[in-house]
Amino acid sequence: MNPTIKKMTEHVSVRDFTKQKITAEQKQALTAAAQSGSTSEFVQAFSIIEITDQTLRNELADITISSPHVKKADTFYVFVADLNRQASILKAHNQDLDSLKNMESLIVSIVDTTIAAQNMAIAAESMDLGICYIGSLRNNIKRVAELLKLPELTLPIFGMTIGVPAVKNQPKPRLPKVNQVATNSYDNQKFTDLSDYDAVVHDYYAQRKTNASDTDWSKKNLAIFKQIRRPEVTSFLKEQGFTL
Ligand SMILES: Cc1cc2nc3c(=O)[nH]c(=O)nc-3n(C[C@H](O)[C@H](O)[C@H](O)COP(=O)(O)O)c2cc1C
Repeated sequence: MNPTIKKMTEHVSVRDFTKQKITAEQKQALTAAAQSGSTSEFVQAFSIIEITDQTLRNELADITISSPHVKKADTFYVFVADLNRQASILKAHNQDLDSLKNMESLIVSIVDTTIAAQNMAIAAESMDLGICYIGSLRNNIKRVAELLKLPELTLPIFGMTIGVPAVKNQPKPRLPKVNQVATNSYDNQKFTDLSDYDAVVHDYYAQRKTNASDTDWSKKNLAIFKQIRRPEVTSFLKEQGFTL
């Protein structure tokens, strides 16, 4: 395993940071890494907004409910799926925006944004910084868009806290390859036979130093997906101009 892959396999989300500052050079490297990812047809359909204003940070942290570290992390970026640039080009050429509003363009922008964010995450971890994605911004996605003054055809997908780790959990055990990697076709039987993995995840949570609990992977997924989550995201997308 080379050092890059070793780092990737050691990933853990960090939610407790020291007060140490990230340098301007490090931030420059983080955004350069984010901007260097692959991007569908070179459309670069994302924007990155650093939140330096503490009042704004606090309001965003309150929206997340579950992620108070958004207030305290040295650096906080919000990642925005963004087709507004393309809209301005089309408008300047008197074209309608229908092609930007459909599900295909939305997927393109969300994928581009996610690739950029993960490039930033890997860059941060390569510098021994810790990161945590903050999807709970979508608890009130409309308010986030208002606070950040987001135009039509944009979507704040998640934030990312970055700082010097104070505490790191043990890496969470991932699905065994047999449950997730196949050759030539989908293996429904193997991919859904989760009993061995449930036992591994149960042990992980039982032995965890912080927030130990009696659960497993299936139980966690049941708790997450037994109800419809954030149904208002669909109406927000329509308000932002997407026809879906
Ligand atoms: C898109 C996305 C959104 C996430 N949102 C949050 C969040 O709002 N708050 C939080 O504490 N962790 C959040 N996480 C972190 C996940 O909970 C974490 O990645 C997962 O539990 C696996 O743990 P690990 O990253 O330590 O391996 C998010 C992760 C992703 C990829």
